[in-house]
Amino acid sequence: MNRKPIFAANWKMNKGPSETEDFVKSFLSKLQGSNFNSEIVIAPPFVSLAKLADLLHTATAVQNAHAIQIAAQNCSQYDAGAYTGEVSVLMLREFFVHYVILGHSERRAIFGETDEIINAKIKKAREANLKPIFCIGETLAEREAGNLESVLRTQITGGLKDISEKDLAEIVIAYEPVWAIGTGVTATSEQAQDAHAFVRSVIAELYGADAAAKIRVQYGGSVKPGNAAELMACPDIDGALIGGAALEPQSFLDIIKNGTPSAE
Ligand code: PGA
Repeated sequence: MNRKPIFAANWKMNKGPSETEDFVKSFLSKLQGSNFNSEIVIAPPFVSLAKLADLLHTATAVQNAHAIQIAAQNCSQYDAGAYTGEVSVLMLREFFVHYVILGHSERRAIFGETDEIINAKIKKAREANLKPIFCIGETLAEREAGNLESVLRTQITGGLKDISEKDLAEIVIAYEPVWAIGTGVTATSEQAQDAHAFVRSVIAELYGADAAAKIRVQYGGSVKPGNAAELMACPDIDGALIGGAALEPQSFLDIIKNGTPSAE
């Protein structure tokens, strides 16, 4: 199965418009001339989406600029109205957003997002033809208690409840062990591969072998230039969701380079 790897920078609450501009200008100049067989995605804070969209669409001199897709870090499960502080999927479409990160462990742990809320957001995103990057992952306590598989299964079945096979084809799953996020501790490639294979097996149970073979499953959690190649060489790992190491243009580029087998 030929799945195109997808490398997504999750900037979290970092980089307003002016830092976004600095990053993109530097990243595009470094990217020039490279030809990666990977998809590149940047997820800035909401307030930087307009600047990112502008920069990518006016950078006609740099062919690769058009290959970079824009992601939002969240969306509302509602259409419009009295939801102070929320941003709707149709608003995101105006900024040429194609992907939206949903179910990130920080949204789950700090902002109380449940599987039900995440499921509602995935459905809303698909109504607007946005592609969810659907995050799942266990805490260290859950792993140590032997609950890795049950936690992942619950998150997958809850998040994807009533999602059709057609919509699943537009979803990317990001497996991110919570204990590896922002900690500098990465899952070993064996731990990551085992979890990814398990995720694929749950998708096979729910949607069949064909859908499971097609879906892309990214790894996230302290991915760096130095560990990208080993992780991405695992058969069930299809790219990465990167936080800290994607805040610097060279480091993000090196992860893509090192993690893409056929990179030039
Ligand atoms: P990290 O974050 O790369 O800084 O560990 C990953 C994520 O939260 O998506």
